Amino acid sequence: MSEPVRFGVIGCGLMGREFASASLRWLHLQGDLPRPVIVAACDTSADNLAWFRRVPDTRYFYDDYRQMLANPEIDAVYCAVPHHLHAQIYGDIIRAGKHLLGEKPFGMNAEDFARIEAAMREHPEVFVRCTSEFPYYPAVQQMVQWYREGAFGQIIEARFAIRHSSDMDLNKPINWKRTKAANGEYGCMGDLGIHTQHLPFRLGIRPLTVSAQLANLVPFRPGPDGTPVPCETWDNAILLCAARNDAGDRFPLQMEMKRMAPGCTNTVEYEIYGLNLSARFTTDDPNAIRYTQTVGREQAWARLVVGQKTLYPVITGGIFEFGFSDSLLQMFAAFVSELRGLPCPFGCFTPDEARLSHRLLTAALQAHEQSRVVSL
Ligand SMILES: NC(=O)c1ccc[n+]([C@@H]2O[C@H](COP(=O)([O-])OP(=O)(O)OC[C@H]3O[C@@H](n4cnc5c(N)ncnc54)[C@H](O)[C@@H]3O)[C@@H](O)[C@H]2O)c1
Repeated sequence: MSEPVRFGVIGCGLMGREFASASLRWLHLQGDLPRPVIVAACDTSADNLAWFRRVPDTRYFYDDYRQMLANPEIDAVYCAVPHHLHAQIYGDIIRAGKHLLGEKPFGMNAEDFARIEAAMREHPEVFVRCTSEFPYYPAVQQMVQWYREGAFGQIIEARFAIRHSSDMDLNKPINWKRTKAANGEYGCMGDLGIHTQHLPFRLGIRPLTVSAQLANLVPFRPGPDGTPVPCETWDNAILLCAARNDAGDRFPLQMEMKRMAPGCTNTVEYEIYGLNLSARFTTDDPNAIRYTQTVGREQAWARLVVGQKTLYPVITGGIFEFGFSDSLLQMFAAFVSELRGLPCPFGCFTPDEARLSHRLLTAALQAHEQSRVVSL
């Protein structure tokens, strides 16, 4: 049995709990991968921290993350806190010599990312990655394989989107993700951007220029007592980039991040169009990839059901459906594998990719404000 990786979790909200659940579902993975054992949890909210009392591995509970970082039993930290805290807490984790799986956008803005980078430079021995789970859908990995084999031929266009509709409910109370103080100037681009960037960046697709359409559609939302308060962040963003790939193709790259997309839940869509092959993936049809087959001079869209052909084999039979929590399990498996130097065919979002992400989103803000195309 591989030696487990002993984790502390900072931020026991939505994502902290997803990690706890995945860590307890490790039996699902067939290989002998080091299990993340969450020995410690930290949250400033007593209620959210109390949830972790249900996690059988967790023995230490903190309301101050600095105390947690002094615990020598912890090898690595998963940190899922609001964006304005990333720079300070990620930096402190790295300076404490703990490996870090941080949450997106990995610093609230470019300046905050630079602070995290400075800590990484001081501690090159610390392994640092950022989360991004959607590329772990088997159908997306099929797309990756075709791309790496050159099956698409010259690229015509690529589009990457994530669309929510929960904010279509105008009575939904405001939360930290809708305030500039905690979410920064990026708004929805900070929350959602990396979901549209991991795949193209990893495939070597680089944005050269960007123009941006940003919309704050609902400037007020109910506050804690029900009275309307300003809701200052961007709800929807469409970025149009001139892009280049490693083969030297130049093509339009579109990234769409929307909190107000009628009829969507957390719909992720990846589309790559090429002269020889085109392919489309949507979490609305999570088991399948659509791709073109050429018939004479025509192209016909085919639907290939991929099933559970996961990067890290699982006990579930190949004919069964794959879902969101499966993608998180695969992502955490990729993190511990790469951390331990085990095979990792598609790793988590890297700090270099996070740097590019911040350059892109900073340029997008400038492009929108000045109504122009900005070079990266
Ligand atoms: N990968 C994904 O699909 C995904 C989905 C949602 C959110 N996220 C990211 O995860 C992070 C957290 O988002 P969330 O939805 O889990 O938020 P959340 O509000 O549900 O949880 C955040 C937690 O951090 C705690 N916290 C705040 N300040 C703290 C501090 N100083 N010390 C310790 N704990 C503190 C809060 O009390 C809360 O429990 C964000 O970076 C967000 O962008 C990622």
